[in-house]
Amino acid sequence: MRNTACFLLGLLYWPFSGMAQQDATELSITNLRCEYLVSPIGIDVATPRLSWELVSDKRGKSQSAYQIMVSEDSLWTEPRGILWNSGRVRSAATNQITYRGKPLQSGKRYYWKVRVWDEAARASGWSAPEKWSMGILKKSEWLAKWIGDTAVGTIQEQDKHIIPVSPLLRKEFDVRRKIQRATLYATALGIYEVYINGKKAGDRCLAPEWTNYSTRLQYQSYDVTALLQPSRNAIGAMLTDGWYAGELFTHQEPQRGNYGYNRRFLAQMHIEYADGSSDTIVTDESWKISREGPVREASLFGGETYDARYGQDGWCRPGFDDRCWSAVTTDLSIPVLLNAQMNEPVKVVQELHPVAVFRSHKNTYIFDMGQNMAGWIRLSLSYNPGFKISIRHGEMLDLDSTLYTRNLRSALQTDVYIPGKEPRIAYEPRFTYHGFRYVEISGLTRPPDLNAVTGKVLASSSAIASRMETSNSLLNKLWNNILWTQRGNMHSIPEDCPQRDERCGWMGDAQVFCQTAMYNMDMAAFYTKWFRDIRDGQTPEGRFPNYAPQVGMAFYDAPGWADAGVIIPWKFYLNYGDKTILQEQYDAMCRFIDWVHDRNPGLIRVNSVGQNYGDWLNGNSIEATDYPGENGEVPKDVYSTAYFAYSAQLLANASKVLGKAKEYKHYDSLARAIRNVFAREFINSEGVVKGNTQAGYAMALEFNLVPQNLRKKAASHLLNQIKAYDYRISTGIHTTARLMNQLSELGFDETAYKLVESDRFPSWLYSIKQGATTIWERWDGYVKGRGFQSPGMNSFNHYAIGSVGEWMYGNILGIRSDGSDPGYRNIIISPKPGGSLLWARGSYHSINGAIEVSWKRADQHITFEVEIPANTRATLILPTTEQVTEGEGPAGRSAGVKKVIVKDGKTTLLLQSGRYSFQIKEGGSQG
Ligand code: BGC
Repeated sequence: MRNTACFLLGLLYWPFSGMAQQDATELSITNLRCEYLVSPIGIDVATPRLSWELVSDKRGKSQSAYQIMVSEDSLWTEPRGILWNSGRVRSAATNQITYRGKPLQSGKRYYWKVRVWDEAARASGWSAPEKWSMGILKKSEWLAKWIGDTAVGTIQEQDKHIIPVSPLLRKEFDVRRKIQRATLYATALGIYEVYINGKKAGDRCLAPEWTNYSTRLQYQSYDVTALLQPSRNAIGAMLTDGWYAGELFTHQEPQRGNYGYNRRFLAQMHIEYADGSSDTIVTDESWKISREGPVREASLFGGETYDARYGQDGWCRPGFDDRCWSAVTTDLSIPVLLNAQMNEPVKVVQELHPVAVFRSHKNTYIFDMGQNMAGWIRLSLSYNPGFKISIRHGEMLDLDSTLYTRNLRSALQTDVYIPGKEPRIAYEPRFTYHGFRYVEISGLTRPPDLNAVTGKVLASSSAIASRMETSNSLLNKLWNNILWTQRGNMHSIPEDCPQRDERCGWMGDAQVFCQTAMYNMDMAAFYTKWFRDIRDGQTPEGRFPNYAPQVGMAFYDAPGWADAGVIIPWKFYLNYGDKTILQEQYDAMCRFIDWVHDRNPGLIRVNSVGQNYGDWLNGNSIEATDYPGENGEVPKDVYSTAYFAYSAQLLANASKVLGKAKEYKHYDSLARAIRNVFAREFINSEGVVKGNTQAGYAMALEFNLVPQNLRKKAASHLLNQIKAYDYRISTGIHTTARLMNQLSELGFDETAYKLVESDRFPSWLYSIKQGATTIWERWDGYVKGRGFQSPGMNSFNHYAIGSVGEWMYGNILGIRSDGSDPGYRNIIISPKPGGSLLWARGSYHSINGAIEVSWKRADQHITFEVEIPANTRATLILPTTEQVTEGEGPAGRSAGVKKVIVKDGKTTLLLQSGRYSFQIKEGGSQG
């Protein structure tokens, strides 16, 4: 049975897309989006891209043409109000359709709709209209001034850890006419929350989220029409350290002020009145500041201290007496680029209820959330204990059942609430987040019940795109753990972990996990934002950082980490068919490859200025005394050169996609040259890859570095290395998923199943047997009876080896994008029933709609149910050479089955859109 937590996560599942009416075309148009977002407010792309999906319950449905209309009024007043009428465009495309109408204007709202023609040229009705609005497009349109406290001068070394009180900022203003629409644009150096008439605007948290603040800052747009009232109004903001001024991981001890110390707020509200006039309210000298807000400290690592005695009732409502507040300091210009936030906001995406509570020691209780998560808790007490309440967060319990916090390093993860005179306590922090399963609360004077605590899961709110279930409940747990780990590590950037004093966008981890991430969730808007962070972190010489946003210019060049700047955009293209991303990243990709080439003219990648971590955690976590392959660690020259060849090839591919013939020739021949050097230097005539490691073979095979005539031999060495290690994994974070992929690619599915279903150390199910509810940094982060791995690096919420999710989706369900027709226009479906599995079922909501696959073994037969969305095709590969039936008869005669090819021990069927049910005999493959 699906566990509750997973089911709840499912609530964020991609909007169900079968609701719209079908007409004569038997197609319905759903999920209209603009720049990957549903009705976004305040975007700043001059010519946004539009997309929709098509749904049909009939087979073989497709789109032969479309027409888009964009209007500036919801009444579709023609012709004045129509900004773009695309006319009938003969095209099957349903996404990445660039707006080509009249210039769009700052702050304006636009409505759009689409209709399509089907394969028989029948026109559909118009879709239900959708909308988007533009943000502030020109720098000169920002009338607001940056406001805040008096500027801090030079900070003494010893004061760098002192977190100042978070100020409150406010202003009152009048609304004299009937409001049509009001939009607020706001951002901060620091983290802010903004309130109008006592109510928080929007539900986003940790705004403006993390970017490379030295160059770029995102602003957020809010529709605040409903928050304003006739006559007097008040706007207020709270301003805390956040990533800008707060402690961050650097090459030294975490410290404050990595981008600056002066926290600043910027806001501009446009009020449009029904009579056509308008007003603009901005941050300026007329605002006031109180340095005595209730948030006494707020740090992402440390937690929040809230002292209710400093609460100022009604401070963000009109009529508050602010005579003792001070004038704000204004900064006319802060040299940073302002961009609209166009990634899904960080917010509370789910609530969890504790499963247990016990008394730890005097007045101290520990709650078990039952799930390792990232976020915070809401504390609700029906009384006021009159004492300071401390809320500490940890991922594990120590052997003596106290809270285990050593692996947090310097991150205190402690929220403190100091009560005032309020009769009961209702508190949740807002300017921090923690990674935890256990919550220790001290300062209570009565034993709490479970309802005292509610877990608030905080994450970037990208929609969940997949589901998966099999007959092996431990594999289901693994899938669920992977999803939780991804959720736990998306706070505006893909982090390594959400708990210790690190929480960086480590690019190697993100790179190995990106395909799994894109299966799990709709990552399009999230990555689009993060690619910009990566580009912002690139040096003028072309070096990519090891994590983005980069702090302090210290971590660059690491093979496999820096390469993510090439690899993830390419995979993004395969998943979403988005050429704009490749175009935007292209120059940065070229500069990076040119830099590596320049440093390594001999093509063996050994010279780098920055770090080389190798295949991280390879061998490190393995007690490998009996292992013949040097602890399984792939030699660094092999590892780094393999990445060089791979990245150069992906850049060549990108050049081709973008029609850059000269560059394609250059990078393709560079990639070929690196492959030749790799084969010459690292692969002997028997197909042994230097080091003879599982990892080395996995990389060399996956990156296509093994000459064709040696592939079989290399594959058998790989298999031998797995056997020699008694069917266990010795790979690191960069090679684990690649090993699994290659096993299946080479036809060793049973070995892959053996590894994924194993519960012996090191394996995924081993950690689950030790109690894992998320993916751990180390296979043996905690072992029953033995205890913890070394605390310096022992996160219990680290997705890297969760990259096996890619193998699970791509092989158990068998859903993959087709590299030759990206963005799931043609869908590869190649399910591989195997291992102990009797059945599997699941779905992936691609950019073209939902793909569903299930299979079941029974009575020596396997039944495969497959559904692909309208306007797509599929290449279905079934493990048989014998007859395939569909419904009642032979598959070849079924409507929608275009071709059946029996080859290499498999049957390949080319399918038109629709739902099918195929059956084959078990063991019918004579390949
Ligand atoms: C992170 C890793 C990261 C690594 C770089 C660690 O501290 O947690 O996930 O990739 O540093 O080696």
